[in-house]
Amino acid sequence: MIQKPPGVEDIFPDKIDRWNHLIGTAREAFRLFNCREIIVPVMEFTEVFARGLGDETDIVSKEMFTFEDRGGRSLTLRPEGTASVVRAYVENGDYNRLSSCRFYYVGPMFRAERPQKGRLRQFNQFGAEFFGSGDPFTDFESIAVMDSIAKKAGVRNYRLLVNSIGCPHCRPSFMKDLREYYISRKDGLCEDCRRRLEKNPLRLLDCKVESCIILKKDAPAITKYLCEGCADHHAALKAHLNDGKIDFIEDPLLVRGLDYYTRTTFEFVTGEAGQNAFAAGGRYDGLVETFGGKPTPAVGFAAGIERMLLLLEEADIPRSGLDAYVVHSGGAAFDEARSIVAELRDAGFSTDMEPGAKGFKSQFKKADREGARTVLVIGEEELAGKVCTVKNMDSGEQEAVPRDRVAARVAAIVGK
Ligand code: HAM
Repeated sequence: MIQKPPGVEDIFPDKIDRWNHLIGTAREAFRLFNCREIIVPVMEFTEVFARGLGDETDIVSKEMFTFEDRGGRSLTLRPEGTASVVRAYVENGDYNRLSSCRFYYVGPMFRAERPQKGRLRQFNQFGAEFFGSGDPFTDFESIAVMDSIAKKAGVRNYRLLVNSIGCPHCRPSFMKDLREYYISRKDGLCEDCRRRLEKNPLRLLDCKVESCIILKKDAPAITKYLCEGCADHHAALKAHLNDGKIDFIEDPLLVRGLDYYTRTTFEFVTGEAGQNAFAAGGRYDGLVETFGGKPTPAVGFAAGIERMLLLLEEADIPRSGLDAYVVHSGGAAFDEARSIVAELRDAGFSTDMEPGAKGFKSQFKKADREGARTVLVIGEEELAGKVCTVKNMDSGEQEAVPRDRVAARVAAIVGK
């Protein structure tokens, strides 16, 4: 038997109801927030991510699926969506010329991480990117759309963490102090962090190694290093969150694992340790310029679909079963069943039946497995009386319905 590679998943129909419920909720929220869908390629030139995300990030330095095409050019399966959307935005002048625009996307991402529950090598995200506004209200809007998706989808007991990591003007003095703090504690750092210390000490705050997490607790907090512009921006975002009644926790050590962020960073988390982000994002005012576009402020987020589905496992999501299952006794009853199936499908009801003549018991079992809301029985008696027995599978009630009123009866039961 050929098996799937580690860290990828097959999504069978039993999971699809929850999957569609979540994505449907997200699409509807994006519509309400005036975000329009963009579909970008699953692979890009490696440079898109190396330049966009930062060489020192875990993603670029060790988690990308990179390969050469036949012409010797380096390609990478996208580990996230933001860099691709920015590349597309800059490359497509029509959009780049708009003063502001909001995109959302849904699709697979690839990271060569050590697979575990909720951590896959191929996983799916939905996310949104808001271009053209540096106003803190837009940071609020990007948080608000994710918050409304989490609420409407049925995620319970989550927390929103927010921080500001400053801008290229105020961050250097913070980085200097952060570096000094860690240099005096270098022996306690993991090997990666000792290397990162010189190039990008901010990355140390994002390290998941236990000894580094312990050191992080007393590290300097960025809050008191923020310049006036960044401090005002952060205060305004917090005021908008309060006005919008979105609960949040300020976390001065929240830095995120990507280099493109400026000012706002945020994570939606569950669980005791607050380590399990199911959605995250922030502002990235310099990224469009990095890709050769005109200076354009931007903010966005992405959510992990598989991670959210784990949280929704317990939530009450209606299962979308068949509207009708037609049970028959074969021969002339088969012909009648077949015409009822066609009629119901024409009328917009999902309907199925067995091809060959099988016992009623096994056909009812099948109807049950398919989650049928109604079962329609055609046997000798029904044929003779020109009726069909329609059973409501929720209430258990059944009645003989004249043949020409079957569709209306099914409609009354399934509510369409
Ligand atoms: P990220 O924090 O790297 O941010 O990923 C966002 C979400 O994707 C995570 O919170 C998590 O739910 C999910 N995720 C990440 N890695 C995995 C994995 N290996 N397996 C399963 N789920 C995973 C970004 O990707 C940024 N592009 C977000 C953003 C958009 N920032 C601004 N705009």
